[in-house]
Parts: sequence; structure tokens; C-alpha cells
Amino acid sequence: MADGIEKLIRPHLAGFSGYSASTSPDTLEGKVDVPLDSLVKMNANENPYGCSPRVLKALAACRTFNIYPDDGQQELRKLLADYAGMPAECIVAGHGSNTIIDSIVRLFVGPDDEVINSVPTFDIYRFCTEICGGKVVNVNRDDSFGANVKGIKSAISPRTKLIFLATPNNPTGNVMPPKNIVEIIKTGLPVVVDEAYYEFSGETVMPLIAKYRNLMVLRSFSKWAGLAGLRIGYGVFPPRVAPYLMAIKIPHNVSVAAEIAVHESLADIDYLQSRVDALIKERSRLFRELQQISWLKPYPSQANFIYCAVLKGSAAELHLNLQKKGVLVRYFDNPLLKNSIRISVGKPEHTDVVMKALREL
Ligand SMILES: Cc1ncc(COP(=O)(O)O)c(C=O)c1O
Repeated sequence: MADGIEKLIRPHLAGFSGYSASTSPDTLEGKVDVPLDSLVKMNANENPYGCSPRVLKALAACRTFNIYPDDGQQELRKLLADYAGMPAECIVAGHGSNTIIDSIVRLFVGPDDEVINSVPTFDIYRFCTEICGGKVVNVNRDDSFGANVKGIKSAISPRTKLIFLATPNNPTGNVMPPKNIVEIIKTGLPVVVDEAYYEFSGETVMPLIAKYRNLMVLRSFSKWAGLAGLRIGYGVFPPRVAPYLMAIKIPHNVSVAAEIAVHESLADIDYLQSRVDALIKERSRLFRELQQISWLKPYPSQANFIYCAVLKGSAAELHLNLQKKGVLVRYFDNPLLKNSIRISVGKPEHTDVVMKALREL
């Protein structure tokens, strides 16, 4: 019998460790002291208010799930264009903004090409780059997690194909000042500014796409519109780049359900904005409450989560102890994110549960 097919796997992927996603409640049966349906899930920056009720109604009424969606995304791109204030031909939508990141990397990065990453940051940039055989060039952020603009510029080499900047950054929650972003854009290299949390920060460099032909901006419906499970995100690109991304994307990469969800969400923007406003208000309260815990150091955030250094004891243990009490948070313990946790902002009652659990520990 011939050897297994694994030996034909591309060598750089044979030892690939993948991406470590947040814990799903379904996997916690028997591991927590509370019923699974009463878990307070603050580990994946989801929107606790859910999506617009209009989305639920329209999906229940839809009778065309047997028909493929429009591969050219014509209507969808128009809707997104109105929302983003950019021309429809600059927009490409996907099954979550993660898949747009994947397309961008596949478009620009080949084996041994370099991608500059401002770390610590969202790990998908590394993940997609490594899958393509590219090399991630990490430039460390400063002590307050500000991006090191000088360091990024001096990391540029003839092999640099992309620079990723997340603002607000995940998991640290801080925004990057627009003048620093512009300084990096002025290098002329393709720059991706990931604004997945834009609706919580109100800061965007989107209008600069008209001026700089190397700027790409990513957005998501997962967070502000409560559609993480439905999967819909988009990117806005210079007019000459968008057609390439449309050409290489997987056909029908946005479902009929997601098209409907965008339509209904944008028709219910005041409702969704009121939920975003509530989360922004709760972010301030959660931050103030976390500051009262002597062994936590929360960092100011413009996103829907708060990153905290754990000053006493182990973050891994804290995460497990909170999990036992039914509170899910994300924890980190690596050289760039030492002994720390990230807590998503929830409803006021979620803050109450988290704070009670933290005080009892
Ligand atoms: C910075 C950043 N970009 C992109 C994404 C991916 O969002 P989506 O759900 O649209 O794939 C996330 C999700 O956590 C994120 O934190």
C-alpha cells in the first residue's frame, strides 16, 4: 500500500499550527458550573444585542435560498457604497472580512514575499500570509500598543508586498492616529487598514482612498450589526485594485441570507446605532469598574472590548476560573501579550455578572 497522501502536503503547511479561535459554548458541556444557555460570552467581541429584528423577519420570509446569489454583488455593492460613502466599483464583499483579508494576501503575496505586521495584533494577517508561503515581518508596538511608524518604515524591503494596520487594534483596542497611517501610506506600498470596529471608534481613513491608490480599508458587519454568525464583511479598494479581487474571489462568496441581512440592517440603521451607542456607554462603565480591581490594568479602548493586563496571578487560571463561573473571556500569555485577558463589552447586566465574578475570585 502506498504511503498516505500527507507526504504531498505543501511542506510549509505540514507543521502549520493554524489560528486559535475563541472557545465556542457548545464545547463547554460539563466544564462549567452553570447551564450553557446562561453563559456570559465575552470572548469574541460579538454584539450581545443581536442583529436587527428586521433581519430575522426578512430571513424567515425569504423563499429564494435555492437560487445562487449574484456573483457580481451588484445590488450589495450599491448598498455598501451608500453606507461607506464610496463608489460601488471600489467595493468587494465577502463571507466575513477575514475572507477579504485572505483574498488580498492571495492577490499580492507569493512564496518568500514579505508582509509587515504591527504586533501584537489580529492574528489572521499572519495566518493568511503563512498559508500563501509569505514571510511575516513583525514590528513591535510600543508599551501603550501604539504602532511603531519608524520601525514599520525601516522594515520595508524589496520583498515587502503588504502592510497591515488594524485600527482600533485587536486585542488592544487603541486607534492609530490618522497622521501616522498617512505616513505609512506615503511609502507607496499596499496598505490595508482594518476598521472592523469602526462603528465603535468613529474614526476612519476611508475618504483617503480617493487620494492614495495604495490604500485598502476593511469593514465588517460582525460587530456593530450583530451578524458575526451570518458572515458578512467588505473591503473598499482603489478602483484599479477592486476588479482583481472580484476576479480571484471564490464564486458566490456572499450568501443570499447575507445579502438580505445587509439590506435590512442598513434599513434599520437608527436601531443598530442605538445599540452601538449603548455598547459605547457600557464600555466606559466596564472600564471604570475594571479600574477598581487592583490586580487588573485595563487599557483604554475605542472598540467593543477591553484589554487588561493581569498584574497578580495567572491569566490562564483567571480565564478558567471565570469560565467555571460561566463567564467567557479571551486570555493571552505570549511574549507580546503577557499574562492578560480581553473582555468584550456586553449589556449592563453582563458587566454586573463579570464584575461580581472578578470580585469573588
Ligand atoms: C481586527 C479584526 N479584523 C477582522 C475581523 C474579522 O471579522 P469578520 O467576522 O468580518 O471576519 C476581526 C474579528 O474579530 C477583527 O478583530
